[in-house]
Amino acid sequence: MKVAVIGTGYVGLVAGACFAEMGHQVTCVDKNAATVDKLRRGESPIFEPGIEKLIARNLVRKRLSFTLQAQDALAGADVAFICVGTPPRDRDGEPDLSLIYAVAKDIAHGMTGRLTVVVKSTVPVGTGDAVEQIICRTRRDVAVSVASNPEFLREGSAIDDFQHPDRIVIGVEDAQAEQALRGLYAPLTEDGVPLIVTRRRTSELIKHASNAFLATKIGFINEMADLCEKVDADVTELASAIGLDARIGAAFLKAGPGYGGSCFPKDTCALLHTAQEYGVPLRIVESTVAANNARKHRMALKVIEATGGSVDGLKIAVLGLTFKPNTDDMRESPAVPLIRHLQRAGASIAVFDPQGHRQAADQLSDVTFCAGPYEAAAGADAVVLMTEWDVIAALDLTRLRKAMRAPVMIDLRNIYPPEQVARAGFRLVGVGRPHRTDAPATADENVFELLRYRALPSGERGRGSHEELVK
Ligand code: UDX
Repeated sequence: MKVAVIGTGYVGLVAGACFAEMGHQVTCVDKNAATVDKLRRGESPIFEPGIEKLIARNLVRKRLSFTLQAQDALAGADVAFICVGTPPRDRDGEPDLSLIYAVAKDIAHGMTGRLTVVVKSTVPVGTGDAVEQIICRTRRDVAVSVASNPEFLREGSAIDDFQHPDRIVIGVEDAQAEQALRGLYAPLTEDGVPLIVTRRRTSELIKHASNAFLATKIGFINEMADLCEKVDADVTELASAIGLDARIGAAFLKAGPGYGGSCFPKDTCALLHTAQEYGVPLRIVESTVAANNARKHRMALKVIEATGGSVDGLKIAVLGLTFKPNTDDMRESPAVPLIRHLQRAGASIAVFDPQGHRQAADQLSDVTFCAGPYEAAAGADAVVLMTEWDVIAALDLTRLRKAMRAPVMIDLRNIYPPEQVARAGFRLVGVGRPHRTDAPATADENVFELLRYRALPSGERGRGSHEELVK
């Protein structure tokens, strides 16, 4: 099929390259000449593992091309995807849809025949209706179907998520759009990927509901982590245990410094804005948003407490800046409020991130960007692990400790087992971890100890040790 993709951000570029890989003829449009030039050379303007290979391969196969002109892509197209940004307009969460509406006009002017227009950008419920009105008012001579097809890609694993999705959701108002989208996704649905066909408004809401639910799940485990810290319990074990209940599921139960990124913070606020417009209270989502914002700020207090109550005059090393690994995206990263708070409290900050320095420099001032984790930690009074990059999860902890002035580690992702950190000589503060740093006995060790105990002559079985064993 012939596909036009308008917008080459994360969503548009990944979708365009993956549709080409599936065998479709794809033309991607972007208004930025430098971006189009880069893409034509096979270079990606975004950091996403595997994207450049995919672009290069499909450029060579002549299934993928890039243009500045929407009409080049729209001529003879069967389907046009709108993949432009919907940034928040202001603090109350209302998204700015002006780019979507501008693209709808471009499409209306450029379309040459019957076309299915698909909104892939994350938009509030009812946006498809507005897009349809714009196109129909501008072009009365050509038939158009407007559909919704949200994406559920995660940055860092976007290509795999696109090629192996849990489900594909299409929201359609007519048979033409349904047929076009079924045809487009046939290579995936024939492989067994479930296709949910629904009305346009339901599809739009599915995306927001999905992100709000995942954000809530993270908010829940983060609050459980707070409670674990107070009652001397372990949130990692708690999460594994509750996650084995199939009704709960193990994913998105990793406690940490709070969620960030371009989607969860924006989409939860946009959903609240919609709910407010329609007079429907969404108390759970409201609490999730408030708790996450407060949490991001509270993480700095954790660092201050770990260093004895004040960071004034101390050097703090922060390892990992991006909101999660395998991306250069700093949007809503919990590292930013943490660093700013510590700076206000008098700390000097040295940082290392494998990809985030360029974007971080736009949001942070007076930090020292270091080439590696050990350079950042040199002479530091505490090290904060913010993002679980592979390189940060594979540190030589003894070398790290030796580089530092004081052996304090605040591991906000629970990357390292406490006993490993303790062996390297660190004092560790984690998230939702018990206070002790010695490893609890594993089930096997317990059984072994019990057998050993039973083998002892009865007179030698100390009461204390038995109580320990049966605990
Ligand atoms: C998210 C959705 O997962 C994706 O379906 C949607 O299309 C876009 O938004 P993304 O923002 O790329 O994707 O990142 P994700 O992997 O979902 O993580 C979001 C944030 O939650 C990160 O800050 C991450 O560190 C945090 N997180 C995630 C946790 O704190 N704990 C978890 O268990 C999972």
